[in-house]
Amino acid sequence: PLSPVEAAKRDAAYAAIDRHVRPDMQMVGIGSGSTIVYGVQRIAAKTQAGDLGPHIKYVPTSFQAKKLITQHGLPLGSLDEGLRLDVTIDGCDEADEELTLIKGGGGCLAQEKVVAHFSREFVVIADYRKRSPRLGTAWAYVPIEVLPLAYVPERLGGSAVLRMAQAKAGPVVTDNSNFILDWHFRDSKVFEGGPETTDRVKWSLVNQQLLAIPGLVETGIFINMARQAYFGQADGSVQELAA
Ligand code: A5P
Repeated sequence: PLSPVEAAKRDAAYAAIDRHVRPDMQMVGIGSGSTIVYGVQRIAAKTQAGDLGPHIKYVPTSFQAKKLITQHGLPLGSLDEGLRLDVTIDGCDEADEELTLIKGGGGCLAQEKVVAHFSREFVVIADYRKRSPRLGTAWAYVPIEVLPLAYVPERLGGSAVLRMAQAKAGPVVTDNSNFILDWHFRDSKVFEGGPETTDRVKWSLVNQQLLAIPGLVETGIFINMARQAYFGQADGSVQELAA
């Protein structure tokens, strides 16, 4: 049997797939991480049962997602085909009530953001640990993709830690041959903006400041992208949140 957290991931993924992946669709984006694994299992089962047609193509957000799609015998699609995706389903590391997200725990944030951007709909799936009243309370750092030559964390404040590989003496290398900095923001001064500034505005400003740093490729801050989220609960229910 699955642990409560794994069961919650599964329940969220199944709910999102059943609601948002429909037989008349052409292209569906597949996120990265451990939660989306249950989503792809659900898609494969529905395809085998004839509830989803074999014409639907699945666009990966990472090497992991690509393997997931092909291992389940599903057709692989790509952004090169020039079509807007009908929907993308993906996990997150933290989501607030406006569905501002921190993503990139798995280091795939750049491709995830590009695929989400080219989708009509972006749906988040997560277990109960990921929903938080204020972004930055459940998760302490923002993953950032940087060019290998630009990894020195100048100007960020807080502390930016180069993510190291576990089975290799060196840094994690992303699917785009870049490095990942995990920026621990709680001790930085970037959130000083007065009490009247909303969280969403604050995070947009932080995002803009980060993106202005030369060599910084993409951040794991996703603002105004997700419209719908499903959070699996420990009691087997699924909370829905629309933004
Ligand atoms: C990958 O880079 C991340 O954005 C993942 O989507 C995120 O970390 C969620 O992963 P889990 O589903 O494993 O929690």
